[in-house]
Amino acid sequence: MLKVTDLHAGYGGSEVLHSISLNVQEGEAVVILGPNGHGKTTLLRAISGLIRPTAGTVELDGKVISALPAEEIVAAGVIHIPQGDLIFPEMTVLENLLMGAYRAAAWQERSQKVERVFHLFPVLGQRKSQLGRSLSGGERRMLALGRGLMGQARILMIDEPSLGLAPLIIENLYETIKEINRSGLTVLLVDENADHIAGLANRVYLLESGVLVREGSADAMLRDEALLAAYLG
Ligand SMILES: Nc1ncnc2c1ncn2[C@@H]1O[C@H](COP(=O)(O)OP(=O)(O)OP(=O)(O)O)[C@@H](O)[C@H]1O
Ligand SMILES: [Mg+2]
Repeated sequence: MLKVTDLHAGYGGSEVLHSISLNVQEGEAVVILGPNGHGKTTLLRAISGLIRPTAGTVELDGKVISALPAEEIVAAGVIHIPQGDLIFPEMTVLENLLMGAYRAAAWQERSQKVERVFHLFPVLGQRKSQLGRSLSGGERRMLALGRGLMGQARILMIDEPSLGLAPLIIENLYETIKEINRSGLTVLLVDENADHIAGLANRVYLLESGVLVREGSADAMLRDEALLAAYLG
């Protein structure tokens, strides 16, 4: 469904990603593991059009999307949930969610979508009239994820959802991501460690220094002692 072929990208003159090729099948949860600063965020940005690949292609359902403006890549259903706490601090929880449904097709279904988000994250329902800035770190992460669910996603790309959160909150968040994937939504997630991906990932890629060095089923990768030693937090 998502196919990346020989992708190169970077910032200014310096290339960060060197010839990345990967694919994600419909309904899969694929995880890209890689250490700090090795290009995970850059890869998601290049797929979602926030930076321009210098070479290579990204295809969605057989159509090349890598030449489209970021806005049209979102319209095609590639929803990117960025790293960190990118929410609108001066808007309420509900307003933040509605920002994720700004396109006409999603807007028509906004009530059902809000209900679904409140079902997945009950705490957001309890806090729907509170301003974004008053939320805890974990609640902000839930809100960012919830906003991503408000659009017409074909694939949800999630950048390090666990960053800086307490273990219990991380566990809940990954459980919810599993539930989202089981409900049929395709997920591409990048992460620094393998702690939370058991039971979620179908397949795993390893990204080192801007190169995908390995790919395999999550089961096989999570049995690999050397890999686990390098990638467990
Ligand atoms: N806006 C930018 N301008 C210039 N260089 C950047 C920019 N963003 C990232 N880089 C560089 O690109 C490289 C890859 O960064 P990237 O953010 O993709 O790594 P990452 O794997 O997501 O790391 P982390 O786990 O810390 O989020 C790094 O060397 C970083 O310094
Ligand atoms: Mg990153």
